[in-house]
Amino acid sequence: MGAWAVSVSWLPLGFAPKVWQGLGRCGPMSMSLRVIVPPHPLVAHWLTVLRDRDTPSPLFCTAMKELGRWLTYEAARDWLPQVSVQIETPLAPCAGQVMDPTAALLVVPVLRAGLGLWAGGQEVLPHARVAHMGLVRDEETALPSTYLDRLPKQIGERVGVMVFDPMLATGGSLASVLELLAERGVTGQRVRVITALAAAPGLQHLAEKFPELTIYTACIDPELDSRQFIVPGLGDAGDRLYGTHADDFLT
Ligand code: PRP
Repeated sequence: MGAWAVSVSWLPLGFAPKVWQGLGRCGPMSMSLRVIVPPHPLVAHWLTVLRDRDTPSPLFCTAMKELGRWLTYEAARDWLPQVSVQIETPLAPCAGQVMDPTAALLVVPVLRAGLGLWAGGQEVLPHARVAHMGLVRDEETALPSTYLDRLPKQIGERVGVMVFDPMLATGGSLASVLELLAERGVTGQRVRVITALAAAPGLQHLAEKFPELTIYTACIDPELDSRQFIVPGLGDAGDRLYGTHADDFLT
């Protein structure tokens, strides 16, 4: 045990998540993107609160944080490297498992909305180092541009990376982050993505570019509208988290 790339099993044990597998172009022998939708009532509940147009910002923040918490918990289940240890209880020697201290964890929240999702993840993984990325989609073209890149220049080969972004629409923003990670040698099973909601067209886009990727999400929605918004979706997560629907403020 102890290495991100080799010691983890591909499927979580003991429960049956819905797994969507998008085949890449290379045929059945190629790796395929894995999208896991944990069948958990709390995940379904908080997603429904997020989707509801009448949910006010403070409750929207709570729902996003709770989804971040439970999706992180599920994503860590079969992935965090462990080591065996021998300890002494007050009564007797005892074998145990602890997280491998030599396999560090790097978390990448994608601003702005990723901060709301990571707020819950941070309570599950408080020991992680955090590298913020700032991306924004152009409202006309839906293409992402990067305004903040705090990724470490070098990332050790035993480091696992979790990316937090609540919306996966076209997949362009996430692809930008994954490309920067790949430039630093972080690919395959060393990466997990946490997102509240994923659109099928964006997943197909990512399946072609990152066939070894694993994504945890509360739901897969079928389509995008003409503005490249997820339908039925939940609206603009950043605006709903931070109350920035309009440019004016108290005027
Ligand atoms: C949203 C969302 C993702 C991105 C998804 O961010 O939080 O980062 O769009 O879209 P894509 O899959 O088509 O790239 P946005 O650009 O609205 O920025 P914000 O989080 O600051 O609101």
